[in-house]
Parts: sequence; structure tokens; C-alpha cells
Amino acid sequence: MHQEKIEAIKSSIAAADATNADELEAYRMKYISKKSVVGELFAGMRDIPNEQKKAYGQTVNEVKQLAEAKFQELIEKVNSSSTKSKSSDLDLTLPPSNISAGGVHPLTATRQRIIEIFERIGFNLSEGPEIEDDWHNFTALNFPENHPAREMQDTFFIEKNPDIALRTHTSSVQVRVMENQKPPIRTLSPGRVFRNEAISARAHCIFHQVEGLYVDENVGFADLKNTLYHFAKEMFGKETKVRFRPSFFPFTEPSAEIDISCQLCGGKGCNVCKGTGWVEIGGSGMVDPNVLENCGIDSKKYTGFAFGMGIERIAMLKYQIKDLRLFTENDVRFLKQFRSMV
Ligand code: PHE
Repeated sequence: MHQEKIEAIKSSIAAADATNADELEAYRMKYISKKSVVGELFAGMRDIPNEQKKAYGQTVNEVKQLAEAKFQELIEKVNSSSTKSKSSDLDLTLPPSNISAGGVHPLTATRQRIIEIFERIGFNLSEGPEIEDDWHNFTALNFPENHPAREMQDTFFIEKNPDIALRTHTSSVQVRVMENQKPPIRTLSPGRVFRNEAISARAHCIFHQVEGLYVDENVGFADLKNTLYHFAKEMFGKETKVRFRPSFFPFTEPSAEIDISCQLCGGKGCNVCKGTGWVEIGGSGMVDPNVLENCGIDSKKYTGFAFGMGIERIAMLKYQIKDLRLFTENDVRFLKQFRSMV
């Protein structure tokens, strides 16, 4: 009876085959491991009468050697066939697959260009939080409570009383810098800002600004104008004209809107500039003495100017982009066009 069983196992070992690692493992489980059929033969030893043990042991050992020899054979077979198929799959004469390089987002590139221009004339960089308290976004900037100027910058409130909201402009960073540093201050603060606006081709509830602040003794309006003339010519080219239009901001006095000559029609008048030849890129003015005092700076000794410009607006003019929504839609057909920019 043993003999029959052993013969059956021997012939199944002889017939066994494996073509991959999984099948090899299955073979090992079936014929080599402790729980394999061969392992069971060894365990059966205890039921064999003493005088037959020796003969039985010899036969079982032969089966074991047979199983192991076959296992080695199968390992070699699987190894050589897998290396063979790997090398035959590899065609060294094929051209390499394309690695497509990404690009910098046009807003990132524009922000970087603005920073470079101002860094070269001595502005450093500063940042503030996007979630701001009422003091830094409004009150320190001379917006009285319930003043209609707050209405123009409605935003998203995180908490009420005390009010914590998403900042409506980067002017909040002016306050943070002046509270923490002594003049002379010459700083540029780029960042994301938020307003409760319906999304359209010209407006968005999330956009970017870059704030400039210069506080020192004897800073005047001529410094503000010259700095922005310099910026406009560096950013848009020597032919670009700049004009200052009287305006109102609670935190600057006097205040002016900054316009540049239209980049599309060169000032002749088109539908981008609505026939005027001018487009607005931001607001500016002399820092209101109240703001200096709110931040602990002596307004008798120091004066300053500030400006805030929209980064989207500048990018749209520079690259003739007609719809603000393109910046956030992540359409690669749009983004690809800026791939060569650094
Ligand atoms: N913070 C103003 C705005 O967002 C722009 C501005 C900045 C005006 C600095 C004057 C000085 O509309």
C-alpha cells in the first residue's frame, strides 16, 4: 500500500512543471515543505512496524531527494526563462519616450518678475496671513466701523465678534510690518486675497495682489510716482505711459489710482480699455498719518507711500489674457502656452 502511494508521488514529481515564481512556490508547498506530501511520508514513519522502519526510511529519503532535485531543476528553468523574456523585450534601438517638462504658472511668473523689479531698487519681501483679524485688515488701516469703504471689500467671515475674515487686500501686511519694524521700511508683500464677488471674466472671489510700502524720513509723492514709473517701464516696456488719477482709500492721503497706457492698442482706444487708452493696475497714495500712529510710528518724523496692484490684472495686460477664470481652470491648453517662461 505504501509502495503504491510512493510510486504515485514519484510519478507526479516527475511530471511536475513550473513556469513562474508562483508555480515554483506551489511546487515547494506540495513536495518540499513540512506539510507537503513528502513531509507526510516522514510523519507516517511512526506507524511503521520497527523491523520495516529502515527500509521505509530509505525509500522516503529517495523520494525527498527526487523532489529536491526536481525543485532545483524547476528553479533554473524559471530563472532562465524570465531573464530571457526580459532581454528580448528590451529594444535598445527604440527612441526614448518623451519626458514632458512642466512650466511655471503665468501668475507665478508674473509675481516673480514683479519681485525682481522691486528687489533691484531695494525692496525686501514680507508676508502676512490670509486669515486676518479686523484690526489688521480694516481698523488699523483707518476704516472706521460701519464706514461704507468696508462695504466695497465684503469678504468671507470665519468668526464674528471679534471678526476674523479672509483678508480683502495685502494692505494688512503693511500694518504687520510697521508694527514690527522701525523705519526705514521698504517692503513688497505679494499674496492671495479674497472678496465676496461673483466670478466673471473680470472678477473673482480669489485673486492676488502685491503691496508696496516705503516709510522713511522725507518720503514724498514724487518718490511714489518715480517708483511706479520705473516699475511700469520695466514690466511693460519703455513706451509705457503711467498716469495717476485722484482717488480715495481710508489708509492713504492723498490717494491715486495707477493707470498705464493700454497694452493692446498702445493708447489709441480699444474694447479692453473701453476706448480710453488707459487701464488701471492698482491703487496708491501717501500713508495716512493715522495709520503710522496706529502702528506705533511717529508721523511727525516719518512719511511713507504705499501701493497695491493686482497680479492677475498685470498678467492679463502683459500676456493679453482676456478672461480671469483661465488662471484657475487648470486647462493645459492655456497653461502650455507659458511653458517657456521661467
Ligand atoms: N488695498 C487697496 C485695494 O485693494 C489698494 C491700495 C494699496 C491702495 C495701497 C492704496 C495703497 O483696493
